[in-house]
Amino acid sequence: MSNSIPNNTSISVTTSSGWSDYALLDSGDGMKLERYGEMLLSRPEPEAFWSKSLPPQDWAKANAAYNSPSQDENGTWTYRSRFNNPWIISIEGIHSKLELSSSRHIGLFPEQYPQWLWLRDHILEQHTPMKVLNLFGYTGMATLFAAQAGAQVTHVDASKKAVSWAKENQTLSDLQDKPVRWIVDDALKFVKREARRQNYYDAIVLDPPKFGRGPNGEVWEFYKYLPNLLSACESILSKQASFLLLTAYAVKASALTLQRAMQEKMQPRQGTISAGELAQQETASDRYLSRAIYALWKK
Ligand SMILES: C[S@@+](CC[C@H](N)C(=O)[O-])C[C@H]1O[C@@H](n2cnc3c(N)ncnc32)[C@H](O)[C@@H]1O
Repeated sequence: MSNSIPNNTSISVTTSSGWSDYALLDSGDGMKLERYGEMLLSRPEPEAFWSKSLPPQDWAKANAAYNSPSQDENGTWTYRSRFNNPWIISIEGIHSKLELSSSRHIGLFPEQYPQWLWLRDHILEQHTPMKVLNLFGYTGMATLFAAQAGAQVTHVDASKKAVSWAKENQTLSDLQDKPVRWIVDDALKFVKREARRQNYYDAIVLDPPKFGRGPNGEVWEFYKYLPNLLSACESILSKQASFLLLTAYAVKASALTLQRAMQEKMQPRQGTISAGELAQQETASDRYLSRAIYALWKK
């Protein structure tokens, strides 16, 4: 085979085996079984093409199970025992409210745990307070880890519900005194406005969904708008900016593709670009479940 990948392109797998309040117990037959604090939840996981490791009686211990006809269709939760809904779990001293609702999402993406730790440690290493922008910030874990480490954070999400949930997590985590700007807006529109205002950031974290809508119906489509958003993000990075971290889920693109897209848009800047997958280790076997892909530009 003649075309080999250039040697400055390395794709790695970042793994996590959970933490005291979270574990991926098992997966298989298109489902996953997870523990959040005391609660066991089973939810669809289309990428779990293999057979389950644990016996049916262990899966039957799930407090609630989510079933839906397909990945893109809403489904329903079946409650198997009474439990507090919502409930709170802790991640390195930061608290997150979790809640079962009509959606399959419960308020947290645990596979991002290694990125939250990297974010916190990287910010702590800097000698000056950083201005960090978190786009598609959802319930705010990345925002709170950055704020806990001393950064001045701007959190942008299109959903009022997600932003108030993130504020609740800030209070639960006793981080109210930390400088966080909470913004309900369309991510691309916000970044373009910041460029016009010449408001620059030392780091940007973005975790766009495959498809989404801004508060005024602005359409977000990953494949259509990502190049535009990456260019706009590059234009609001400060001269001394230190990183741009992009994560993506449920998209056909590969880590190599994200790396290539980032390479083109970050050309004006010195630095390195790494990319890879976020994978979780199961406790019931030595298997890893791939959950997301990422690309990271670092000064
Ligand atoms: C996959 S979640 C992000 C997960 C989050 N980064 C985390 O790990 O906790 C996607 C988020 O994007 C938000 N969103 C969707 N379309 C948007 C848009 N056009 N502008 C800003 N946020 C948007 C949704 O409200 C949702 O909170």
